[in-house]
Amino acid sequence: MTDFFNPTSTKAWKDCRLLTGVAGQNVIPDGVIVAQNGRITYAGSADDAPALDGVAEVFDLDGCLVTPGLIDCHTHTVHGGHRAREFEMRLDGANYVEIAQAGGGIMSTVRATRELSVDQLIAQALPRLDALLAEGITTVEIKSGYGLTIETELDMLRAARRLATHRDVRIVTSFLAAHAVPEEFCGRKQDYLADVVLPALDQAHAEGLVDAVDGFCEGIAFTADEMAQVFDRAAALGLPVKLHAEQLSQSGGTKLAASRGALSADHLEYIEDADAAALAASGSVAVMLPGAFYAIRETRKPDIDALRRHGVAMAIATDCNPGTSPLTSLLLGMNMAATLFGMTVSECLAAVTLNAAKALGLEAETGTIEAGKSADLAVWNCETPAELVYRMGFNPLERRIFKGKTL
Ligand code: NIG
Ligand code: FE
Repeated sequence: MTDFFNPTSTKAWKDCRLLTGVAGQNVIPDGVIVAQNGRITYAGSADDAPALDGVAEVFDLDGCLVTPGLIDCHTHTVHGGHRAREFEMRLDGANYVEIAQAGGGIMSTVRATRELSVDQLIAQALPRLDALLAEGITTVEIKSGYGLTIETELDMLRAARRLATHRDVRIVTSFLAAHAVPEEFCGRKQDYLADVVLPALDQAHAEGLVDAVDGFCEGIAFTADEMAQVFDRAAALGLPVKLHAEQLSQSGGTKLAASRGALSADHLEYIEDADAAALAASGSVAVMLPGAFYAIRETRKPDIDALRRHGVAMAIATDCNPGTSPLTSLLLGMNMAATLFGMTVSECLAAVTLNAAKALGLEAETGTIEAGKSADLAVWNCETPAELVYRMGFNPLERRIFKGKTL
């Protein structure tokens, strides 16, 4: 008998309020989900469900709300040390750019990250990853970008990959050597791109460490023309791209990302209407990072109305990083996106499920509860989806299910 017919590999969850996350579908009051070998075979109303007699394990969810497992599509979870001191400096009136120009900012995390082995990077990342998973996350994107040498960028990606062997979670990596120009290349940005970024990308790709290529397009980092060189190499290697764009100023990053068919453009506080139109045309996801907006006390908000008007898919992520967004709660990220940016509850939920999956190129695999997709579920002690967005600092997760396995 093949696995397909083996009833012991079939599981079902019943008596739940089911938010499949499929566009336009409301909560199904008496929901059933069936999965075989970790893949969903049925998700919908109990009335239309197949008979569960032969199913090996049937879990009664006692009326809990079930959503797709949440997806954090933009994080820097792997890094060394912390920047609490810079937080204090900002409380004293310094701003993010001044701190970066004084040798702090990204470079202080680079110094701390370079000192750590892969094992140590993993050990420091695990508590942050665990905080994310505790809120029902089943997929996390993790970037490099705090090594800025060939070997240390690869080590960050190795650590990110290996986290998936320590926890039941899907990890997606992004190569971010074009995050800052390290001290040793001060005034020699082109040399840094040619001697470190491009060879590191080739090597990381050859080792299977890269799922996408990212960069920081900004006055204090790389111009759109410089990022284009990195994206050219990504295209030659067949890798998708994404970009930190329009975070602190209008730098042309969003238009570049859109012109390259990027998976996403992220931050976007300084976009103009034409940027939203470009993202709509390219089908790139706009990733909102309200934790960074909040932590650096940015006052300009991403133009949600323009993104809506043009029909751009919006995601929300923690941006979990030691400088601008020391945030390990995607639930709080949703609350901030709603309260600070004016996103609706249903926009927020799509932003951490289907649209976040799209931002990672994973929409065929996860992000909704639909036949054919991985059984990645979050079970909540909640009556309504709005409760997931409106609370601050409360975690109603009942259990997390990853590839059909209850955790
Ligand atoms: O996503 N924008 C650039 N990168 C990070 C911040 C990095 C840092 O300050 O350490 C971000 O906000
Ligand atoms: Fe970031």
